Formats: sequence, structure tokens, C-alpha cells
Amino acid sequence: MTQDELKTLVGQAALKYVQPGEVIGVGTGSTVNKFIDALATMRDHIPGAVSSSEATTARLKALGIPVFEANDVGELAVYIDGADEIDERGHMVKGGGAALTREKIVAAQSRLFVCIADESKLVKVLGTFPLPVEVIPMAAERLKRQFAEKGGQAAIRLKDGSPLVTDNGQFILDVTGLQIHDPRAFEAEVSQWPGVVTVGVFAYQKAGVCLLGTATGVRTLA
Ligand code: 5RP
Repeated sequence: MTQDELKTLVGQAALKYVQPGEVIGVGTGSTVNKFIDALATMRDHIPGAVSSSEATTARLKALGIPVFEANDVGELAVYIDGADEIDERGHMVKGGGAALTREKIVAAQSRLFVCIADESKLVKVLGTFPLPVEVIPMAAERLKRQFAEKGGQAAIRLKDGSPLVTDNGQFILDVTGLQIHDPRAFEAEVSQWPGVVTVGVFAYQKAGVCLLGTATGVRTLA
């Protein structure tokens, strides 16, 4: 199976976690897009969704799925999202699609995080994928130096030759050269650095379930 087919497989498998009558939290990315396509078949059974990005909002609305503001609904039963890396304990690196801040917010509002990913995302230690960090632009250069002190090389993410601006009006640093052996400690530390909006390590909002697409079918990590 191709990577695209594996994404379709897990996107469809995630439907069984959607609870009829409940608003669902929806992440961002190419794997989640497969889930959204599948979710359209259930749109008459759910009130709608809380979205983690402008891109996801547009896709949900295009398929006739109502989108609610996070502040207008209470706790969500389930949040479904992809990952750039996930370990066996459900810790993730996220933010390859620059949506990490709203993803973490919707995940924090949800009782269960269901991660959907193809098996290439499963790692022993987080850090091979460049770690996304959303930052206030005026702090970017100082934060690059702070990551250098931890052995990381941080670069501002570009789009069409200029800094990419997130849905929240901020920049993304992508940090290479890290090996994150203690995701909770790392997330706690970096989250406190002035100018950091959100670090793309999801340890406090880790996945409770991961549906991994493999050549032999969907493998569930829980
Ligand atoms: C977006 C994300 C995505 O979940 C992550 O980048 C995985 O994306 P894809 O499913 O396209 O591989 O964190 O900010």
C-alpha cells in the first residue's frame, strides 16, 4: 500500500471513535483530510466539529459539516488528529502543518486524543522530524540561541521566501538535532521560554489511542 492509501485506511478507521450526537474535535493535515472525507458520511449523526485550523475549517464546511467555536462548546469526547512522530507511549511531535497551537488547544479540551498516522511516524525517540515551535516573531532570534544551547539548530519556517505566518499571526521555528528522551520535561521547560507560544511536543496532551496504518492493516496502540 502507498502512504496515501495507509492514510485513507486510518482516516476511515477513526470513524468508529466518532460518537453520534457529540461534537468532534478535528486536527489538521493530509491524514486528517482523509478522516474528514470519511466523516462526511456521518454528518447527519453529529452536530458538528471544533476545528484546529483555517484549512480544516474550510474542508469541513465544504463537506457540509458545521464548525463550532471552541468557546461555544464544552468538553469534547474525542479529538482526532495526525502526527509527525509518535512513540509507543503516545507522545508526539506535531506542527508540520503549522497548526500546533490550535491543535493543542482542542486536544486539551478533549477527553480522548485519537492519533491517526501511517507507520512511518512511529519512532523510538522523538526528535528526528524537525521540531516545530510557534513563536512570537520578536523572540525568534533569541529562541534560536536558546535551542542552540540545547544542541538544536532552529530555523524560521519560510513560505515563498518569507517567514510563514500562522493562523495566529506568529512564526514557526523548526528545530533539528534534538533527541527528546523525556518529552514531558522538555515540553514543560520549553513552554516557559518567553516568546514561545506552543512547542510541538505533545506529552501533556498525548494520544490515548493511536491508529497506525501498516501493510497488514490498522495497528492500534493504546
Ligand atoms: C499539523 C500537524 C499534522 O497532524 C502533522 O503534520 C501530520 O500531518 P500529515 O497527516 O499531513 O502527515 O501537526 O500541524
